[in-house]
Amino acid sequence: MDQPVQLSTAAHRTGAAAHPLDPLSVAEIARATTIIRQHFPWGDDLRVETIDIDEPAKDLVRNYVAGQQFPRVARFNVYRQGETGVWQGRVDLDAGQVVGQKFRPEARAMVAVEEILLIEKTVRADARFREALRRRGLLDEVEMMCVDPWTVGDFGHAIEEGRRVLNCFIWMRMFENDNYYAHPVEGLHALIDLSTLEVLRVEDHFEASGDYIPVPRAPRNYDASLLTEFRAPSAPLDVVQPEGPGYRVDGNLVTWENWDFRVGFNGREGLVLYTIGYTHQGRRRPIVYRASIAEMVVPYGTPERSHYRKNVFDSGELGFGRMANSLSLGCDCLGTIHYFDAVVPDVFGGARTIENAICLHEEDAGLSWKHFDLRNNRTEVRRARKLVISSISTIGNYEYASYWYLHQDGRIEYEMKATGIINTAACHPGQPGRYGTEVAPGIVGHIHQHIFCARLDMEVDGPGNSVVECDTHVPPKGPENPYGNAFYVAERTLPTELAAQRDADFAKMRYWKIVNPGAKNWVGTPTAYKLEAGSSVQPFTDPDGPSGKRGRFIQHQLWVTPFDAEERYPAGEFVNQSRGDDGLPAWTAKDRPIENTDIVVWHSFGLHHLPRPEDHPVQPCVVCGFKLMPSGFFDQNPVIDLPPAKNDASCLATSPHCCG
Ligand code: NI
Repeated sequence: MDQPVQLSTAAHRTGAAAHPLDPLSVAEIARATTIIRQHFPWGDDLRVETIDIDEPAKDLVRNYVAGQQFPRVARFNVYRQGETGVWQGRVDLDAGQVVGQKFRPEARAMVAVEEILLIEKTVRADARFREALRRRGLLDEVEMMCVDPWTVGDFGHAIEEGRRVLNCFIWMRMFENDNYYAHPVEGLHALIDLSTLEVLRVEDHFEASGDYIPVPRAPRNYDASLLTEFRAPSAPLDVVQPEGPGYRVDGNLVTWENWDFRVGFNGREGLVLYTIGYTHQGRRRPIVYRASIAEMVVPYGTPERSHYRKNVFDSGELGFGRMANSLSLGCDCLGTIHYFDAVVPDVFGGARTIENAICLHEEDAGLSWKHFDLRNNRTEVRRARKLVISSISTIGNYEYASYWYLHQDGRIEYEMKATGIINTAACHPGQPGRYGTEVAPGIVGHIHQHIFCARLDMEVDGPGNSVVECDTHVPPKGPENPYGNAFYVAERTLPTELAAQRDADFAKMRYWKIVNPGAKNWVGTPTAYKLEAGSSVQPFTDPDGPSGKRGRFIQHQLWVTPFDAEERYPAGEFVNQSRGDDGLPAWTAKDRPIENTDIVVWHSFGLHHLPRPEDHPVQPCVVCGFKLMPSGFFDQNPVIDLPPAKNDASCLATSPHCCG
């Protein structure tokens, strides 16, 4: 699929991409679909999983000068309605042709929201489903049933072989706007063939015993129209920037303080940041070529009934980008906001614009640095601010809110805020079992983890980077450590991919640095960024089990690979019903050298979540993430040059002139 592409100035360019890394425009997606339609003779049966920019070679991007021509190529994954397998390929948008294709018969396309919406009606109408409701005394309420399809993984069930299937869990809505996740219909499932919309099987786990768990019927709501009591509103807290924001936006290029980067977005990963660099003392220094959250998985810990199947890859199976929200000013986003729209293909290949999908704004970040010299009574203090780039995706019951922060002092920080509604099951009141918490009477939240994988294509001071593991050691008691106080950090460069499958180690206070062996700071050590893996998660899923084999990226907190444009998603290109033969474990088995070369750092991190009653009926944000911290990248404190300033809007709360 590495065929040369033509360069030309085509009509579709008009008003479109201004830079080789710009996401595909509405016109470009439309053109790609037209070309794909002409290529595959399927008519209305064409279904689109992905149409996304084929990112040009890094050298082209690095050497690009504004105004130059550049190729526009789209990648696609398409399939034919009613058939399994996926066609993968590229479209040269300038030449107007498909320039490479490959059929992946084992692949199952991601699940599209348009497909999900068809399922509920089908299941409600199914005679076996109605019979199961009748046995439970719920048949009169069939129209209230909410049918949530979940991806099924690969458990080797014969009925699922060769099909694209989803397994449905059932809840019921008692009245308009009611939170149906408070009313799980436990132990009832429908297995759906997504290609044919056929109900393959209805499973009723209590049919034999007749010992049904009742549907918890008490309303547990969060919708403002249903809540009756609100606390008194807080005093207004406005973010006012009378002279406008400190950032500048030019197309997808953002510059702020000493930083510059490009905003990208695609249907699968959602937000992408490209070519993050920091200009210091007149020199622009590259740090990260491309940063994204490339995958995530939520393994659940209960083997009971059908819950053992829950091991969902919300990014690779549904797409964070496709499920991104349109953000709302003054609600999702506070302050002086710049929004970027996102464009993703729908399942029929139409271009769908998600307005206000990406929010850009500044936030106060507290104290930057301070010192008081007690001998001369002088204080120097500087305030910090940060730039926030965010987007929020809704995947079924849950919200994933994704935040990148750039700090003035060179730190890059990522936070995933998880909110929304926990996945609920029903239990006999007082008997949640050992795999969950009873979050409200008769409602259980099962133990699970949310493990994300950041793909960090690093270029600290240029493409030649290495990863150094830093462990803290204590010399043996004796001549080397006579007072028992000694400890020191020892550094070890990770030479190859297998040697770089690394785990967090609290006993060694382990961390990793991405260094440029060819670039030295003023004390002669390689310039570096430190990965602070503050949300490392111990996995508990058997890596060789039916669920664990599909998401082995969670088994190590650090992986390092030499850059390969085809190695994009840590659990593989096609995750839906995958068997676990693609992704980081397969690639790193090659054990390629990773020293002083163009490397990608993969960091698995996340949340270990035994739900609390406080997580119900809607969960206040819980946060995980990581930091990239300059570590010998600068010769000294890079924000020593922050000008002394006093915020004139600040005042004493007791002052009558305050906040007039
Ligand atoms: Ni959770």
